[in-house]
Amino acid sequence: MAPCSCTSLALVLTGILSAWAQDGCPPGFSSNTDGCFYVSNTEATWAGALGYCNIEHGHLAYIETVEQQTLLANYLKQHYNESSIHVTTANDYHYHYLHDLGMDVTGHTSFTFNVKACHDAHIALSQDKGVDSRNTYEIVIGGWSDQQSVIRDCKQCAHMDTQKRIPHPLSCSQYRPFWVSWANNIIRVGHGNIVGKSQFMMWNDTAPHEVNYVAVATGFGSSGEWDITVGNYWPGQFWLGLSDLAVEGEWTWLPQQGSLNYANWGPNEPDNALNREHCALIDIHRNFTWSDDNCEERRNFICQVDL
Ligand SMILES: *[C@@H]1O[C@H](CO)[C@@H](O)[C@H](O)[C@H]1NC(C)=O
Ligand SMILES: *[C@@H]1O[C@H](CO)[C@@H](O)[C@H](O)[C@H]1NC(C)=O
Ligand SMILES: *[C@@H]1O[C@H](CO)[C@@H](O)[C@H](O)[C@H]1NC(C)=O
Repeated sequence: MAPCSCTSLALVLTGILSAWAQDGCPPGFSSNTDGCFYVSNTEATWAGALGYCNIEHGHLAYIETVEQQTLLANYLKQHYNESSIHVTTANDYHYHYLHDLGMDVTGHTSFTFNVKACHDAHIALSQDKGVDSRNTYEIVIGGWSDQQSVIRDCKQCAHMDTQKRIPHPLSCSQYRPFWVSWANNIIRVGHGNIVGKSQFMMWNDTAPHEVNYVAVATGFGSSGEWDITVGNYWPGQFWLGLSDLAVEGEWTWLPQQGSLNYANWGPNEPDNALNREHCALIDIHRNFTWSDDNCEERRNFICQVDL
């Protein structure tokens, strides 16, 4: 790492902070008693994340006391729970990958969403990143002028289940909740946000493929607005401003210097696996403990601006 130009950073911060004094946090940040925090929905390498935070005149988040650890864990819990992805799809039958928006369905078997569209809400469940591949399930909700829904075994392929008895599952003016599940190679679709309840389509695929990507689209005369609950689909690992890039095993908060007074490493962490792990993250799925990781990996991150 290049040595930090801390004086100039401090000057920039002072200038910016006085401009924010009345408003509190910059746009996209929210405050707690420790400062302003931004939780990314996208992933970046550790250096990329640091660069992003610097643009916002902040730094990757610090956790220097048990109180700060608790505060940040609660903040992440709340943010995580409330997070949803909003996607606008045009009348172009172009699939938008939720993976690109931070939602990773690997290891999961369902998701829930709310969609507002006059007709033709399309969902693709793909093994590979490419809905044109044969290894894609395509679900149409409210096709054929909002009169019919189907499950297909690939894009525009044969209908494996068809539902015509529910006219107007969609609405031009209201969000309608649905769930989609692919557990045990059975593709299921239902109304509401409770997976397994109010199912209206099902297909048991005897020659199944994996589902690693989810994508949504509208077309055939309809555009759409989608709200997709992110919750558990988040990888849930967030870069912190902590690294031992300068001296292996000497973890320091950057750009500030000095050794750690407090740490919340997970079991057997930091382990410097493969001698390549010099950046630290906090992991939602491991009780908010920290671990070291390869700085070149893309992770979510938390920026902090001190008030
Ligand atoms: C997350 O949301 C669920 C459902 O609204 C609620 O039951 C749960 O307590 C929330 N968890 C946290 C940590 O806020
Ligand atoms: C799905 O198909 C498999 C193979 O034919 C069968 O063993 C299984 O019982 C079916 N499941 C359901 C829920 O119909
Ligand atoms: C999770 O972490 C909190 C705070 O460090 C601790 O009190 C709690 O016992 C931990 N829970 C588990 C299941 O390890």
